[in-house]
Amino acid sequence: MIPTPDLSHLTSQDFGKIYEPAEDTFLLLDALEQDQDQIQALQPKICLEIGSGSGCVTTLLAKVIGSQALYLTTDLNQHACKATFQTGQKNQVDIECTRTNLVNGLLPRLFHSVDILCFNPPYVVTPSSEVGSFGIEASWAGGIDGREVIDQFLPLVSVRDLLSPHGVFYLLLINENRPLDVMDILKGYGLTSYISLERRAGRERQYILKIQRES
Ligand SMILES: C[S@@+](CC[C@H](N)C(=O)[O-])C[C@H]1O[C@@H](n2cnc3c(N)ncnc32)[C@H](O)[C@@H]1O
Repeated sequence: MIPTPDLSHLTSQDFGKIYEPAEDTFLLLDALEQDQDQIQALQPKICLEIGSGSGCVTTLLAKVIGSQALYLTTDLNQHACKATFQTGQKNQVDIECTRTNLVNGLLPRLFHSVDILCFNPPYVVTPSSEVGSFGIEASWAGGIDGREVIDQFLPLVSVRDLLSPHGVFYLLLINENRPLDVMDILKGYGLTSYISLERRAGRERQYILKIQRES
């Protein structure tokens, strides 16, 4: 068992500004832990998490892989970037967090080089008008079908061009996001995917899609 990262430096005030790890976070952590042998065998050099929030996911990933990889994260929320860095430091992990929309500004540099990509996106069905804030609402507001931020990210230029030849992308979805539809879209981009883990959390059915380039 890999211990859950120490978040004791984050207070309830912090969690008024950033996403507090919840069942979705833990499902992603469990998916990474379930694949730890496979992840280690990949000998990842570059890991990227979109929307890192508290930094819990990337910190655990770093515990799986070790200090030889570069850990990059992005978030729209400035408080999340700060918390991600602090969580890394608290757990002896160096994380570079960029405040940006999705991967803006990173793509030319990271072209075909991300070995492990993680995204626990804002997936809740909300009015479109709630999407795109820079505050805590950005943690959940997913717009129509909870898919508006996810659909911004899926196109070829974002995902396929980011992944290294053997790179793996872990994406959290819920039923309302229509995971099978997302899998079809990914197929159209030359990416193969399957549900590697699923769990009920209250009224939500949560899934981890594991995505790779088609061989
Ligand atoms: C559901 S929370 C997940 C946080 C953390 N990864 C976890 O699993 O606990 C979604 C995160 O994505 C961030 N986010 C939302 N839209 C984003 C965007 N367009 N670009 C970058 N980050 C975004 C939010 O600020 C939030 O921190």
